[in-house]
Amino acid sequence: MNFSIETFGLDSSLIVDSSLSDQWEALDEYFPYPWTAEGWRDLYQQWDRHLVLHILESQKIIGLVLYGFNSDETAHLYKIVVNPLYRKRGYAGMLLERSIEYLKSKSCKSVFLEVEDTNVAAHKLYLKYHFENLHFARHFYGQNRHAYKMMLSIS
Ligand SMILES: CC(C)(COP(=O)(O)OP(=O)(O)OC[C@H]1O[C@@H](n2cnc3c(N)ncnc32)[C@H](O)[C@@H]1OP(=O)(O)O)[C@@H](O)C(=O)NCCC(=O)NCCS
Repeated sequence: MNFSIETFGLDSSLIVDSSLSDQWEALDEYFPYPWTAEGWRDLYQQWDRHLVLHILESQKIIGLVLYGFNSDETAHLYKIVVNPLYRKRGYAGMLLERSIEYLKSKSCKSVFLEVEDTNVAAHKLYLKYHFENLHFARHFYGQNRHAYKMMLSIS
């Protein structure tokens, strides 16, 4: 495997050029709930409250993980996605491991997320990396679309 991971965020002066943003937004199409262009614009304008790690293979971005910060000590994992052609090779796990290491180095104490109960791949991924089910939120994503709310303590 010839890959690398890059980290962006927690820096209000960061400028994201379109070659990067186009690839992130294209990957987001594989996510169950892609953001609108406005959602992405808000992210680019508030880098001090967000963190992205992406993974590259042969200079192509094939996966990313994105967090937002509610406070200095609490992060929310908004999305993790890997291009379908590159799944089941451990990339999401590597993105999680590397990003959690980074969060720890920034004194973050806990990570929260939601995952739809039918999303077995993602739920298993989070359990493998020691997230715990906190609460089962019925109809969280709409009628009959339930979610697990999960948390990882990293202190
Ligand atoms: C969830 C997702 C990010 C996993 O990416 P990936 O790179 O294929 O995952 P990895 O290869 O790192 O797998 C790590 C672990 O995740 C779990 N997992 C991943 N894919 C799985 C699948 N299809 N079925 C069951 N478990 C799966 C397993 O526990 C796996 O560990 P194992 O290989 O020891 O069994 C990917 O399927 C994806 O992009 N899905 C669409 C976006 C999405 O739903 N994101 C999460 C929304 S909350």
